Amino acid sequence: MLVSATEMLKKARDGHYAVGQFNINNLEWTKSILLAAQEANSPVILGVSEGAGKYMTGYKTVAAMVKAMVETLGITVPVALHLDHGSYEGAKACVEAGFSSIMFDGSHYPIEENIAKTTELVELAHANGLSIEAEVGSIGGEEDGVIGAGEVADPAECKKIADLGIDFLAAGIGNIHGKYPANWKGLDFEALDAIHKATNGIPLVLHGGTGIPEDMIKKAISLGVSKINVNTECQLSFAAATRAYIEAGKDLQGKGFDPRKLLAPGAEAIKATVLEKMQLFGSVGKA
Ligand code: 13P
Repeated sequence: MLVSATEMLKKARDGHYAVGQFNINNLEWTKSILLAAQEANSPVILGVSEGAGKYMTGYKTVAAMVKAMVETLGITVPVALHLDHGSYEGAKACVEAGFSSIMFDGSHYPIEENIAKTTELVELAHANGLSIEAEVGSIGGEEDGVIGAGEVADPAECKKIADLGIDFLAAGIGNIHGKYPANWKGLDFEALDAIHKATNGIPLVLHGGTGIPEDMIKKAISLGVSKINVNTECQLSFAAATRAYIEAGKDLQGKGFDPRKLLAPGAEAIKATVLEKMQLFGSVGKA
């Protein structure tokens, strides 16, 4: 059974750790992340971007796959299935498809429109038992065609959105999706502190978890971050392990071309990355 992310994130906030959101792309990704969470006895959030949802042939397919896999793998830790950077239409479609959590990313709308659409979706999500994340101050970088300039969120605007009854808030603090450039200035902890103080203890979300140094992750958690999103890092470890398998010529040996063999090292690499992140975020043993 899937659960909303509300309770797990309140517990994380109160216990001073963060729950990882790991984005899924296909069956192998989903299986690796679920197995890692079970092994670590950690709550977990499976993130689905709109692009990944389309790739997997639609939100209904994704929800059915995840629900069946949780059951057949005997996963007992709390699992939330969450729409990542959802549009207004995408958020509605995921409520319909049986997700347990949605993000509405209205950060590119004028604040009044962001407020109006978020208000409507909070009502819809809560009426159906889902948790909802909203965003203020866009996250930089490019993810599945969504390009953000990477602003630092205004604490007053964060308060306005947090007060709409959302369950957790993504606020831009100099974080970006994908790899960080060499001249990146780091997270803006002053902004994070101000946002945290302005938003009445709402669990905060740190997007762009790939490549943020460990000390910054720990400091962000100490300043109210309870959910950290990781996507690119699993893609990089999957690609590196698959490359090593091919470069070693293993696909040419015996039945090494069988997709169940070819994709196995990448799947193991995703699992190792997720376990490493769960350790760093402090969610191990918190299921
Ligand atoms: P990364 O790809 O940088 O890890 O970011 C993931 C993310 O924030 C998903 O919303």
